[in-house]
Amino acid sequence: MKEITDEDYKEFIKTHNEITIENVKVKIGQPKKIVEYQPKNFELETTNIWSFPERGTWATHQGNFRGNWPPQMARNLILRYSKPGETVLDQMCGSGTTLIECKLLGRNAIGVDINPDCIMLTRDRLNFNYTPLDPNHPNVTIKTYVGDARNLNLIEDESIHLIATHPPYANIIPYSKENKVIGDLSAVHSIDEYINGMREIAKESYRVLKPGRFCAILVGDTRKHRHHVPIAFRTMQAFLEAGFILREDIVKYQWKTKTTREKWGGLTKVAEECWVDIDKTNKKYYMDFYLLYYEHLFIFRKPEDSEDIRPFKDSMMWSNNQQSNNRIRHTKNNRWSKATPTNSEEFETNLNPYGFIYIPKNAFPKLPFKAHEKLQLKIDKAKDCVIITSANCAHSRKDL
Ligand SMILES: C[S@@+](CC[C@H](N)C(=O)[O-])C[C@H]1O[C@@H](n2cnc3c(N)ncnc32)[C@H](O)[C@@H]1O
Repeated sequence: MKEITDEDYKEFIKTHNEITIENVKVKIGQPKKIVEYQPKNFELETTNIWSFPERGTWATHQGNFRGNWPPQMARNLILRYSKPGETVLDQMCGSGTTLIECKLLGRNAIGVDINPDCIMLTRDRLNFNYTPLDPNHPNVTIKTYVGDARNLNLIEDESIHLIATHPPYANIIPYSKENKVIGDLSAVHSIDEYINGMREIAKESYRVLKPGRFCAILVGDTRKHRHHVPIAFRTMQAFLEAGFILREDIVKYQWKTKTTREKWGGLTKVAEECWVDIDKTNKKYYMDFYLLYYEHLFIFRKPEDSEDIRPFKDSMMWSNNQQSNNRIRHTKNNRWSKATPTNSEEFETNLNPYGFIYIPKNAFPKLPFKAHEKLQLKIDKAKDCVIITSANCAHSRKDL
C-alpha cells in the first residue's frame, strides 16, 4: 500500500486535467459547483430489497465512473452500522462514493484502490469544503492508498469499525483493460481465480475489522454460455470461510442493465416465448434468457472475542462433518496463520469455524500424543503443513 495524500493530488493536477479509466475520460481538478450537500427526502431502508432509480448527485457525487454504487447505499450502511467519529474502510473505493459519504456524515475513512487513477479521482471528489451545521459533527480524517485489497499491510489488526465495499464482478466491467494494472480483479477471466482473490480479501477484511462489527460487500452475478454464474454466492462462501457470520442478504435492484454483449439466439421452436432485441443494423435476435436485474449486498458480522457462536451455526460456513462443527469454539486466536496449538485443550479452542485448521508442520511435534487420538490429520505437502479435518477420529502419529 502506498498512501496518496491531498498534497500528492494537488501536485498531480498541476500536470493532469483528466484521468482515463478503461476508455472513459473523467475531468479532474475543475472547480466544483455544489448545489446541495445532503440528499433530499432520504430515508433509511427497512426491507431487504433496495432500489434507487435515481442515482444521487448531492455534494460531488456523479455517475460518470462506470459501475459506481449509489451514494444512497453507502449512506444506508454508514448510518446503520457505524457511529460518528468511527472509521470506515472501502478497500476497492473506485471513484470514492463511500468516502464522500463518510466526509458528509462525520466518519473517518480509509479508501484503497489498486488503480492509481481511481485514487486521484477519489481525492478529486473529496476536494470540497464542507461546513456542517451540527456543532457536534466530528472533524474527520480521510486517508487514501493505492493498494491491493488482498494485502492491507498498512492497516492494523482490528482497527476498522465498518467495511463497506464493492468489488468488480470479475471482468464484467474492466477497469484497466487498456492500461494494465497488476492485481486488478476486473482483469481476471477465470471465475476460480477471482474467487481466490475474494478469499484473500475476506481474510484481510476479517483481520482489520473490530470484533462484533460489520462488513458489507455488494456483488453481482454474470452469465456464461447461456448459464447463470453465481459470483455473489461464491463470494458469500469465501467470507463465511474466513469466519464471518451472515447477518443480511439484501437484494439491490439494478436499473441500468445492459443487454449482454453476446447475442444468444433462442431455440427457434420457442422463439415466440423469448424476448426480442434489435441491433443497430435492425437484425432481430430472440433472447432465451432473463436479464440480470439484481445484485447481492451481503452484510457479515465478525464475532466478538470468545463469543459462543453456536446459536448462529446455520448462518455460518456449513460443513458436512457435524461432529467437528459441534466442537467449534471461536477465539481471538482462531486465525489459520496463528494456529500453533501445543495441547489438546488449546486445539479445541483454536478450531476454525470452517471446520478445520492448518497447523505449520514444525508445530506438530509439540502436540501431545493424547491429542492425536482425537484428530484426523493429513499432510498437505504443497502448503507444508498438517491439516486437521476432524476432531473425532482416532489416528496416531505413525499414520502420518
Ligand atoms: C465496482 S468498482 C467500485 C466502485 C465504487 N463503489 C464507486 O462507487 O465508485 C471496483 C473497484 O475495485 C478496484 N479493484 C480491482 N481489483 C482490486 C484489488 N485487487 N484491490 C483493490 N481494488 C481493486 C477497481 O480498480 C475498481 O475501482
